[in-house]
Amino acid sequence: MENHADISKVVRQHAEMDTFFTGGFTRKAESSPSHAPQQKDDASLAKAVKELGEIAAQVNQCRKCQLGSLRTNAVPGEGNPNAQIMFVGEGPGADEDAQGRPFVGRAGQLLDKIIIAMGLKRSDVFIANILKCRPPNNRDPRPDEIINCFPYLQQQIEIINPEIIVALGAPAAKTLLNTNKSIGQLRGQFHDYYAGLGSVPIKLMPTYHTAYLLRNYSPDNRRRVWEDMKKVLAELDLPIPEPPKR
Ligand code: URA
Repeated sequence: MENHADISKVVRQHAEMDTFFTGGFTRKAESSPSHAPQQKDDASLAKAVKELGEIAAQVNQCRKCQLGSLRTNAVPGEGNPNAQIMFVGEGPGADEDAQGRPFVGRAGQLLDKIIIAMGLKRSDVFIANILKCRPPNNRDPRPDEIINCFPYLQQQIEIINPEIIVALGAPAAKTLLNTNKSIGQLRGQFHDYYAGLGSVPIKLMPTYHTAYLLRNYSPDNRRRVWEDMKKVLAELDLPIPEPPKR
C-alpha cells in the first residue's frame, strides 16, 4: 500500500517536473525557429566538423584506461559545431553506452526539455561529457580516468569555442574549473574556463545535473536550474521565455 503511494507520488512528481520545463511553452523541438545565431563562417565550420570527426574517431579507438575495454560504445559527444552553448555532463550511463550518444536516457530527456524551454533545439547546442566511456555501474569517474579522457573534451571546447559552457553537476564543474568547491557553492554564477594559456576565457555556468534533479525533486531545485539557464540566455542576449505556468 505504502509502496503504491510512493510510486504514484514519484510519477506525479516527474509529471510535474516535465511540465515545469515545458508547461506554458507551445514550442516544439523541431518545428519552432531557433534564436541561436551562427558564429563561424563556412570555411571554419568545415574545419570544425573535420576536427570534431577526428576526435570522435580517436575516442572510438581509445584504450587509454580500463573503461575502453568495458564499453559497448564510446560516447564522444554530438551537436552543433557552431554552438554558442556547450552542455557538459559527467559520463555516459547505460543508455548512452548502448547508443553511443550523450544524454539519451531519462536525464537526457530532461535536458532536452530544458533546452526547449530555453527556446533552443538540441541541434543548436553541443553536448558532451568529461568521460567518454561508461564507468561500471555508473560509479563516479576516477582521477586517472579523468586525466586520460579530459584532453578530448578540452580539444572539443577549443574547436567549438562556445560562448558559454554549462557544466551539469559537480564532476563536470569541478573538472572544468579545477576546484574542489561543491556544486552548491559554484552554481548560479559565471566562472571562467581557460582553454589554454593566454586564451580568452569562456564563461562557464555550473548547475545541477539533470540526474540529480530527477532524484531530488523539489520546486526549489527546479527553480534554481531555471534561474541558471535564464542567466545563460541573458548573457547571450537571447530572449528569455515566460516562466513555465504551474
Ligand atoms: N549523464 C551524464 O553525465 N552524461 C550522459 O551522457 C548521460 C547521463
